[in-house]
Amino acid sequence: MASNEIISTTTWQRRLEGKVALITGGASGIGECTAKLFVHHGAKVVIADIQDDLGHALCANVLGSTNSLYVHCDVTEESQVQEAVAAAVETFGKLDIMMNNAGIADPSKPRIIDNDKHDFDRVLSINVTGVFLGIKHAAQAMIPAKTGSILSTASVASYTGGSASHAYTCSKHAVVGLTKNAAVELGQFGIRVNCLSPFALVTPLATKFVGLDGPEFEKIMGSKANLKGVTLKAEDVANAALFLASDESRYVSGHNLFIDGGFSIVNPNIDIFQYPQN
Ligand SMILES: NC(=O)c1ccc[n+]([C@@H]2O[C@H](COP(=O)([O-])OP(=O)(O)OC[C@H]3O[C@@H](n4cnc5c(N)ncnc54)[C@H](O)[C@@H]3O)[C@@H](O)[C@H]2O)c1
Repeated sequence: MASNEIISTTTWQRRLEGKVALITGGASGIGECTAKLFVHHGAKVVIADIQDDLGHALCANVLGSTNSLYVHCDVTEESQVQEAVAAAVETFGKLDIMMNNAGIADPSKPRIIDNDKHDFDRVLSINVTGVFLGIKHAAQAMIPAKTGSILSTASVASYTGGSASHAYTCSKHAVVGLTKNAAVELGQFGIRVNCLSPFALVTPLATKFVGLDGPEFEKIMGSKANLKGVTLKAEDVANAALFLASDESRYVSGHNLFIDGGFSIVNPNIDIFQYPQN
């Protein structure tokens, strides 16, 4: 494809025209918002989640039954992930985009000596094993087509220490490892593999973890953010996902895209650029 062809075929209104996407954890929060944006840009979307009522309602009332399908899928169960991929292929003919987005946080317990093995295992099972299974079964569908974009939702906790629990931080570091390894393996088949690392934003997962309502959450996180004057929203993450899902990122693979306003690169202890506060 010549470079002028990429530019001329990139229709900014419909950047995913003709593509089929599967989004795990798509019934709520970042996944729900991304599903809406993907459909807006012409994609057919399969929502795979365990919140069946929310997922069905989203497809029926918001995304539309010709553009979307809800499937019950616990990402820790390999057969259910396999069936979700099969449902995408059977219903819409193929799978172009896999977004491994389902995730949980464990109860906030700052001391490791208070952390339970059960909680640790549960977080890793959904946040890591779920991503592994998603990449595996998406690859199975994408390898014969010799194309595809796989993206996973990591977090700033994929890079920084101390911003989330031990289990969550560990799980999101592992998502980066899986992303790099899969990008190396699947590059030979024309499949790109990337992940997204947002800073904190209001969703059921985040407000429950921190124990604050939306406005209070945004106020506290705003005070900790590096970039001032902007509040991170699910739409910002969805826009980054749209870029990684679309052909505009056709040479981007193995990348961890931070949507954090520079949070992860600041060490506040040696920030020499602090202006005096009035
Ligand atoms: N909200 C934040 O501040 C933030 C920041 C960085 C990264 N993330 C990541 O974003 C992703 C989406 O989370 P969110 O913040 O939108 O929260 P959310 O709770 O709104 O969405 C998570 C979704 O995952 C689903 N899910 C949970 N366990 C599942 C399972 N076993 N199988 C299938 N689906 C399951 C839930 O039902 C829910 O719909 C997660 O991976 C999370 O770690 C969130």
